[in-house]
Amino acid sequence: MKTNESNPLGSLDEWEDDLLRRYPQNAEQNGTQNGPSHQQDGKSFRNYAAEARSSVKEFYRLNHRYQTLDFVREKRKQYLSLDKRRMSIWEAMEYLNTLIDDSDPDIDLPQIEHLLQTAEAIRKAGRPRWYILTGLIHDLGKILCLWDEPQWAVVGDTFPVGCRFSERIVYSEAFDANPDSDVPQYQTDLGIYEENCGLDRVLMSWGHDEYLYHVVKDYLPPPSLYMIRYHSCYPIHHEGAYDYLLNDTDRELFRWVRDFNQYDLYTKRDERMDVAALRPFYQELISEYFPGEIRW
Ligand SMILES: [Fe+2]
Ligand SMILES: [Fe+2]
Repeated sequence: MKTNESNPLGSLDEWEDDLLRRYPQNAEQNGTQNGPSHQQDGKSFRNYAAEARSSVKEFYRLNHRYQTLDFVREKRKQYLSLDKRRMSIWEAMEYLNTLIDDSDPDIDLPQIEHLLQTAEAIRKAGRPRWYILTGLIHDLGKILCLWDEPQWAVVGDTFPVGCRFSERIVYSEAFDANPDSDVPQYQTDLGIYEENCGLDRVLMSWGHDEYLYHVVKDYLPPPSLYMIRYHSCYPIHHEGAYDYLLNDTDRELFRWVRDFNQYDLYTKRDERMDVAALRPFYQELISEYFPGEIRW
């Protein structure tokens, strides 16, 4: 993917690198991981925003401008019939790895290695096999980029649409340019939803999380599906926003989403992965949960 007007990031990793800057690992280890973080400290949040790369700011500007309720409905119609391809999980990993971008190959690891790093960190921590598998596959929804979706419709913090945009979303001022900001019905906390209706009834901004959730939802246990579906939802899992839309199941299962974040965000850039050597273990693990081919 080449950098252009609708794709300002040199690579998808640039968004995640910026997340690391927003949520440095030390802060996590000091115990802020289970609750709102930067919003309690407006100064550091402003400093973070001021120091972001211009490409990242432009990426968020596009994301906040174009992720409308109508856009989300349109993408769901386009993709959730899962009629684009049939392929195995491992084939999808190799397919994602064909994503070529403008990043520096000495700095950014191939996508398959991020998946393996995440999975290996979970494995080393002695977590259950379904959890390791979740780490392995959690970003496969990024194949949307290979189908010409712009970066802002694949990655970025996710958030509910059809209700008031929370100011706890990063660069929330950019929502002024979103056409949904002019729809009176969407300007209340609840918008088109009912109080504590549960996130399953809430339409989230479109991206790799929601797409992959629908691809794998028949095969994995509920905590795994929550991790996959909401791992980019920093406004909820890190900032504590939108509590009025959550039900008790969401609150219970978001503990897993927060737990998963340590492996997703903080395992990047460690040592290289020996893909060929790891493959037998992971093929076996995949076959415990998935048939040979699934619909994408
Ligand atoms: Fe992701
Ligand atoms: Fe990830």
